[in-house]
Amino acid sequence: MKQVYFLTPFPGMVKTVVSESILGRAEKKELVQFHTKNLFDFADPPHYRIDDYPFGGGAGMVLKPEPVFRAYDEVISELPENSDSRVIFPTPDGKVFDHDAALNLSRCQNLIFINGHYKGVDQRIRDELVTDEISIGDYVLTGGELPALVILDAAVRLIPGVLNSYESAESDSFAGELLDCPHYTRPESFRNLDSPPVLLSGNHKEIENWKKKQSEEKTKIRRPDLWKKYNKLEDGIKNYE
Ligand SMILES: C[S@@+](CC[C@H](N)C(=O)[O-])C[C@H]1O[C@@H](n2cnc3c(N)ncnc32)[C@H](O)[C@@H]1O
Repeated sequence: MKQVYFLTPFPGMVKTVVSESILGRAEKKELVQFHTKNLFDFADPPHYRIDDYPFGGGAGMVLKPEPVFRAYDEVISELPENSDSRVIFPTPDGKVFDHDAALNLSRCQNLIFINGHYKGVDQRIRDELVTDEISIGDYVLTGGELPALVILDAAVRLIPGVLNSYESAESDSFAGELLDCPHYTRPESFRNLDSPPVLLSGNHKEIENWKKKQSEEKTKIRRPDLWKKYNKLEDGIKNYE
């Protein structure tokens, strides 16, 4: 079973999310187990501070190294020896997260998230403990919990058995070269808005063609970068044939 740890000053933020919906179900199915370590529990008395002023001056506080190293040592002591663990630090200056990175994380045994706060974390944490520095996009959030949960959710849903239909994940945007196609469900007609008749025709070949065409059109308009890659691939197939 995959073990997932969050080193965070706000364990409540994480616990709420991992206990609900598909993540919660994944834990009930014993495919993954979630743990939190509250960084304040690893801070020094009497003040139990986890942040301090930056050396060299400047605005903003820095997350101190001791609570994080101590919490990390405790996590390592709880994991089986020599198990494969990735230590992830979500950070805006990390490598931008994508489907391939999610798939890669879904396949490794243990994930340990170090959630940054304030201006950042003491660099020694990054240098000594972290294996993966990951950004979820070119904007800045107040803390690492939300990005860690985004990364986790994208990875856990790709663990076989987590989704009721893995096939569904395989046809999602970014799992292949094209964006996903539009979807419709009952009622067939709603407020004078009809569903495309082809989807109700029962003709599987025509349905597949329609879906592919819709995906192609959407990708072409919204993601010229993906469209370019897709066309090269299609050309490759055509040339090969
Ligand atoms: C206010 S941010 C610090 C930003 C940092 N000074 C910088 O400019 O790169 C506090 C924490 O939120 C998290 N964070 C904020 N934006 C993020 C993003 N786009 N991707 C991943 N983590 C992010 C990181 O853990 C970061 O340490």
